[in-house]
Amino acid sequence: MSGQWVDLGAAQDVTAAHSLSIEIDDVALIVARCGAELYAVEDRCTHDGESLAGAEIEACEIICPRHGARFCLKSGAALTPPAYEPLRTFTVREEAGRILLQRPL
Ligand code: FES
Repeated sequence: MSGQWVDLGAAQDVTAAHSLSIEIDDVALIVARCGAELYAVEDRCTHDGESLAGAEIEACEIICPRHGARFCLKSGAALTPPAYEPLRTFTVREEAGRILLQRPL
């Protein structure tokens, strides 16, 4: 149900080098860390649909492994071609060592 918070697991499992790939309500998404904060974006590159699971993350940008488009983790904005449309973003927070995501649908 929309608006509910879902526990995705231990926050310590998401590090600067390791993102979390998960599917909620038929939406595949990535939870990644930028500094101390967690962010969640849809796991589907807006250029040609490539999965961003395990994609390199650098300076709070997630880099599509297929053609190299970069997206801002915080806003989802497409920063470099060949992607021009933003990634969908989701509300996520860390509480008592757990990752909580607001249900997308
Ligand atoms: S599919 Fe991601 S940049 Fe082309």
